[in-house]
Amino acid sequence: MKILYIGDIMGKAGRKTVQKLLPDLLAETGADFVIAQGENLSHGKGMQLSSIADMQTAGVDFFTGGNWTTKRPEVFPMLEDAKGPVARPANYPEGTPGRRYKIAETPYGRVLIVSLLGQIVGAFPAVIDNPLQVIDAILEETKNEQLTARIVNFHGDFSSEKLVIGQYLDGRVTAVIGDHWHIPTADAMVFAGGTAHITDVGMVGSLDSCLGVKSDVIIKRWLSDQSSRNELEEGGRMQLCSLLIDTDSSTGLAKSAKQIIRYSEL
Ligand SMILES: [Fe+2]
Repeated sequence: MKILYIGDIMGKAGRKTVQKLLPDLLAETGADFVIAQGENLSHGKGMQLSSIADMQTAGVDFFTGGNWTTKRPEVFPMLEDAKGPVARPANYPEGTPGRRYKIAETPYGRVLIVSLLGQIVGAFPAVIDNPLQVIDAILEETKNEQLTARIVNFHGDFSSEKLVIGQYLDGRVTAVIGDHWHIPTADAMVFAGGTAHITDVGMVGSLDSCLGVKSDVIIKRWLSDQSSRNELEEGGRMQLCSLLIDTDSSTGLAKSAKQIIRYSEL
């Protein structure tokens, strides 16, 4: 089974870029199931149902979560629904809306999808539970499920955190995919134990920006030490960053992991 994982889709420009590039990417790769990081789908912060629907029409089957996933309450029922195609971070504190993990039904079998937040991610005031302990508990809880693949998304800041959890889960899950940086790393590989890994897959958004936000806004903020609103860069050169994982359904591990980056103009 081929799983395509797309990095953080940044607002309207990110959505338009997915709409432009994903059909060709699907034809080229033969991907069977598409997962995308959705926490920045709507104006760079959170997810609106209309944005989710647009991305489903474009070919995205499922969305992972990050520090903005619980920003907009309209998505809470989808987070609670076992069949809702969005997974919020599993290691949020007790009482956070939504389930800790999801199992997606695909033509090739059932796929466990878990998002975890790194413990150093900004913009979230609550204490985040230890991601290693949380994933251990989820893998134990789901050990008797018939699963064809186990996909773990690690939404974090430190490359060290993203690498360590990959090594920790090597041989136990199909893939550990880092995101949140919006900058792709050049280290896609299959670890010795058979788990696909990339430290950060990157994003879908402006190539000429600061992580998708207009550079002049960020530079002015930094120069002046004054806070300001993020304005997303919505025109010009765009990138779509992704990871293609070829899975072995008999072992639940990965046969290959290939970074794919495509460009377009809006
Ligand atoms: Fe994030």
